[in-house]
Amino acid sequence: MAEGTKDTKSSNQMWGGRFASGPDAIMEEINASIDFDKKLFAQDIRGSIAHATMLAQQRIISAEDKDKIVQGLNTILSEIEGGKFEFSRRLEDIHMNVEARLATLIGPAAGRLHTARSRNDQVALDFRLWVKEELQKTEKMLTDLIAAFLDRAEEHAESVMPGFTHLQTAQPVTFGHHCMAYVEMFGRDRSRVRHAIEHLDESPIGAAALAGTGYPIDRHMTAKALGFREPTRNSIDTVSDRDFAIEFLSIAAICSMHLSRLAEEIVIWSTPQFGFVRLSDAFSTGSSIMPQKKNPDAAELVRAKTGRINGSLIALLTIMKGLPLAYSKDMQEDKEQVFDAAESLELAIAAMTGMVRDLTINTARMKAAAGSGYSTATDLADWLVREAGLPFRDAHHVTGHAVALAETKGCDLSELPLAELQAINPAITDKVYEVLTVEASVASRKSFGGTAPSEVRKQIAYWRARN
Ligand code: ARG
Repeated sequence: MAEGTKDTKSSNQMWGGRFASGPDAIMEEINASIDFDKKLFAQDIRGSIAHATMLAQQRIISAEDKDKIVQGLNTILSEIEGGKFEFSRRLEDIHMNVEARLATLIGPAAGRLHTARSRNDQVALDFRLWVKEELQKTEKMLTDLIAAFLDRAEEHAESVMPGFTHLQTAQPVTFGHHCMAYVEMFGRDRSRVRHAIEHLDESPIGAAALAGTGYPIDRHMTAKALGFREPTRNSIDTVSDRDFAIEFLSIAAICSMHLSRLAEEIVIWSTPQFGFVRLSDAFSTGSSIMPQKKNPDAAELVRAKTGRINGSLIALLTIMKGLPLAYSKDMQEDKEQVFDAAESLELAIAAMTGMVRDLTINTARMKAAAGSGYSTATDLADWLVREAGLPFRDAHHVTGHAVALAETKGCDLSELPLAELQAINPAITDKVYEVLTVEASVASRKSFGGTAPSEVRKQIAYWRARN
């Protein structure tokens, strides 16, 4: 309940003890958006200044009134920035709060600002401007995250680690290659961000309530003044569209899913059982009872933020799905979802960028793990195809026997005596040992996009030129 707004006099006959206040106070409670849409104050004022300037240029209002309006709006901007502005729930939202204060400051001229516009195009404008800025911030943050991965990939272009499928050891890969997989993922996220900025880069102001206006406004002028490419083309769509918010949330959801997979890998890799990485003190916490513990809390929280962000996406899709054109008040519920998701995403990207830069990589441990689990079995099969001319399926079969033998003997493939390998297939020579090491295995995978250090360096160069 808003402070100082409880209507205790009309205490509730209809709803009994559940509500301490009367219907009009409840109406205010459900209707007011100022508690969250005050976040849009700077966009609202910017939009109003552009609108008033256009109205004056089109001779819809006088130059004197425009000057008063602009001056008043700038005063309000510094009042809000200085924490001196009193927001009121009675005035519902940021638009009415600003306009009411403007009337107090400049008198009747304030009443001319709302000519040829409605809160419907006004809120669409404010929110678009906010989402656009947020997308631009996200683009920069993703660039930093990609840069962190590029540095780690460069440092570890040759470091061998086990590659997994089904979380079972599959084939040796390089840690640099693994880092570059994330560069691809976050690179796609960033290109989605760039596309979203292009999609939303149209100015809604001037669509008015839904049908446009009879005043001779210039929507191209306001679009330009506010940094948009062009005005929107259909006034009905303009006030009923929240695709830009939904697109932001879907991008956030996909990006956050990527961050969560990274978080999960860090959680697994930092266990004593894996021991691939050590987290810096800056990104871990201790246990209040178990002195030996170092917990990957930041990674876990990044993983959890995905749940919130997915929730916001589903919430807004659901809010919008049944709405007839054009504006309905349901749409007021769009903002909190986007604000919350934006805050979570920013935190998650920043935390991950810090963690990626800070991780200590235990290359010895990774290399040892890379060789276990018969990870070079495919290299043996490939050798049989290449050097002994076997069809791959037969080579696969022969290799299966060699793995089974090594398993019974409790040794590695490279530790099997030549005589015993030859007993499985006489075409095997001692040259085979050259491909059974993890280094030889990764160095051989020079196919485009493959794990060989030479290939990884090419991938790094490609991204460095684009980051
Ligand atoms: N606070 C409203 C919102 O966020 C502003 C638009 C109100 N428009 C209206 N016709 N009641 O959606």
